[in-house]
Amino acid sequence: MNKESRINLHLDRVMRPIESANGLPNECYTDSSAFTLDRDCVMAKSWACVGFGTDVPENWAVPISFMGYPILLTRSSDGVLRVFHNVCSHRGMQLVLEAGKLGTGLIRCKYHSWTYDFEGNLKGTPMIGGTSNNEHKDFDPTVNGLKPINTTVWMDNIFINISNDAEPFEEFIAPLIQRWSKWVSSETLMELAPGIDTKMELVVKSNWKLAVENFLEAYHLPWVHPGLNSYSPLEKHYDIDRGENYAGQGSSSYTAPAGVTGTISSWPNDEMNFAEYPVLYPNTLLGLQSDHFFTMTILPINETTSLERVQLMFLGDVATHEKYADHRQSMVDSWREVFSEDIFAVEGMQSGRQSPAYQGGVFSPVMDQHTLHFHQWVAKRLTDN
Ligand code: FES
Ligand SMILES: [Fe+2]
Repeated sequence: MNKESRINLHLDRVMRPIESANGLPNECYTDSSAFTLDRDCVMAKSWACVGFGTDVPENWAVPISFMGYPILLTRSSDGVLRVFHNVCSHRGMQLVLEAGKLGTGLIRCKYHSWTYDFEGNLKGTPMIGGTSNNEHKDFDPTVNGLKPINTTVWMDNIFINISNDAEPFEEFIAPLIQRWSKWVSSETLMELAPGIDTKMELVVKSNWKLAVENFLEAYHLPWVHPGLNSYSPLEKHYDIDRGENYAGQGSSSYTAPAGVTGTISSWPNDEMNFAEYPVLYPNTLLGLQSDHFFTMTILPINETTSLERVQLMFLGDVATHEKYADHRQSMVDSWREVFSEDIFAVEGMQSGRQSPAYQGGVFSPVMDQHTLHFHQWVAKRLTDN
């Protein structure tokens, strides 16, 4: 039996009720062909977070590799962020090789010097009709522009839908916005802005899904995060409802750091201790508190390595003013400590998936419901293929 049919056979067990279900098989975490399936069937068909708006200043073009796909993030002088496949329409040269400002407003291929504007239109094709002719009657530049990717920026997170046929992002996020409407609205979330110098990166030697799964449950809190558990204990955590595209946990014992002025204007006074930590599937981990917000995006490098990128957001001056720099830094440091504590567990799960004795494992019918929900979300997309 080939690898793919073995995975497919196992996926039936993933779809069982939690009492008898097994998790995704080892191959889904260790195999390069499964990594490609994750890219094409899971990530590309949904809304994957690939970076932050702050990564792309005006008039810049920023190339990234997303699971092997060359992708180009651009922002024109009017502030609009657009994402394209980073490939020249001519001979398929990777169009932009390194991030930089394009003062001319044109993106130029280094091979034969074709140029594109920030809207992706093909603007220049030097000598296409011979050394003295930049046009040719049989070549139509209007159908040979860059290939766009559906893009939305929400909470400064750049989401892309590579297949260009997912539901609109507004529909995708709507159930989570609805869930949070008792505390925030789309408008009051806009009070938050990216904090200056609040990005951090952590490399984990694990498949991207294990980083997601670890964030989905609070079960490990007492043993992996004893410090956090002392002021925000496991028994004060609750499972949030599982939406179509998200799941996660909440805490009813969040305390904003002393000395912070300001909370999101719509947040009710008697609910300040609530905070929620959902995963917006497939790869966007969120933290909503009354005084700040964070995103961790899990960027898969290969089947056994992932990059976690985090950005914090704050209110008004707290986001940008120099006098709050120490506060921002201390928040970055305290989240870094918590996220770093998880790494040994995530990497340990990856090592365990080399064992032939492990066949997807079993779930606590109470504590692991979200983990299975995510496995089933992934399995459905793998089998729909
Ligand atoms: S490959 Fe880009 S101009 Fe020829
Ligand atoms: Fe954790």
